[in-house]
Amino acid sequence: MYDYLLVFVLIFGALFYIARSGRRKEITKASHDKLKAGHKRTFGTWIASDFRAPRPPAYPDWSVETTKPLPYRPFKYGPNYFITMGIRPVDWDDWIELDNQWTHYHTEKHARLASERASQLCKTAPEAQEAALETMKLLSQYLVDRYPSLFEFEFSSKEKQIRIKTTGEIYPIHSDDPLKYAALLIEDDLALMIEGPDGQYYLRGGAILLPGFWRLEDKFNMPLAKIHTSGDVPKFREKLQGSMERFFQKMTPERPVARNNYFIQTDEHLAWSTSIGSEDTFGIGWEHAEPNPPIENIRFRSERQTLRRLPRSGAILFTIRTYFIPVVDIAQEPGVPGRLASAIRSWPDDVARYKGKKAYEEVLLNYLDEKQAEQQANGLDVASFNSYPY
Ligand code: HEM
Repeated sequence: MYDYLLVFVLIFGALFYIARSGRRKEITKASHDKLKAGHKRTFGTWIASDFRAPRPPAYPDWSVETTKPLPYRPFKYGPNYFITMGIRPVDWDDWIELDNQWTHYHTEKHARLASERASQLCKTAPEAQEAALETMKLLSQYLVDRYPSLFEFEFSSKEKQIRIKTTGEIYPIHSDDPLKYAALLIEDDLALMIEGPDGQYYLRGGAILLPGFWRLEDKFNMPLAKIHTSGDVPKFREKLQGSMERFFQKMTPERPVARNNYFIQTDEHLAWSTSIGSEDTFGIGWEHAEPNPPIENIRFRSERQTLRRLPRSGAILFTIRTYFIPVVDIAQEPGVPGRLASAIRSWPDDVARYKGKKAYEEVLLNYLDEKQAEQQANGLDVASFNSYPY
């Protein structure tokens, strides 16, 4: 009888132990996941970090007249097109790239700010005021260090200001709209993402002057996911949302990143693609482009985007530099027409729809095939020019 009792106690004890240790494992895994997801701080709060990015050396031989834009060509040979975050680390020295398009972009930005739309193009919510000022401070120091032939600090008034040497303009560092002045200094547009108490990142500030196909007023105050799903970004929920949200929560001030994308635009207007519809129309996008444009009108539109966490405010600053080149020009580059045609043919249906392929596929693919054949007839071994990603 006692033997039975002993066996019963032993079995019960063993089962109890197994159940407990299983639960312990679960708790450990849950807290590990929490840590992995960056739960060390309470969402929506940030303790200012004293990290300072290394100051860059002057860009070697940089000139606002002669330095050419970097030739990013971020498209791959088919047959597969993968949707990934596509981010890579970026060196602090290369945070903002300027080139001989600067004057043109600066003029376009001024024209936009002189238009009736101006108040829709730059917006900063109260939650992003501190981050907007931090952006202007960090950016102006970086530009004076990196591009000293274009920028210098000006100390003639009580406040420190920045002077653009070629135009003579002087901009305040402290102002009502630091993002607007910051965007006028560079070729990029700017967006500020602020973490909410729910751990989501909200678009609370922007100077979006040359967007081409989306409007700040539509996305302002939206969280990252809604920004993308409201535009039907292909496979966003399935392939991007989880990794992007985790990446944002865990991002530290020490590690900036960059990514590149590309679109095909069927007209020559940098600030707003008129062929997709009026900027006053709601729900616009590449899929509305007018069909069969002449090849001379077609542009390769590609963004170099960077992301960094600002150390003092904890906001995430998103920069968007658009490169805008006639397709007839990039098709001269060795291997490019074949590679671009192959990439476009490899787009799955949802990507093709998102990028408005039906409007230009016939004109563009015929042209690229012709140029590819010409290059091969001239003896080019196109495979040796597959220099993807950039
Ligand atoms: C790791 C960060 C991010 C990734 C991986 C990402 C990814 C994407 C992708 C794949 C697209 C489709 C076009 C393309 O290929 O680029 C897109 C579109 C877009 N993204 Fe992001 N994005 C990121 C951050 C942001 C941020 C911070 C903003 C804040 C303004 C933003 C705003 C947009 C907008 C406005 C569009 C166009 C949406 C539309 O068609 O309506 N993205 N993004």
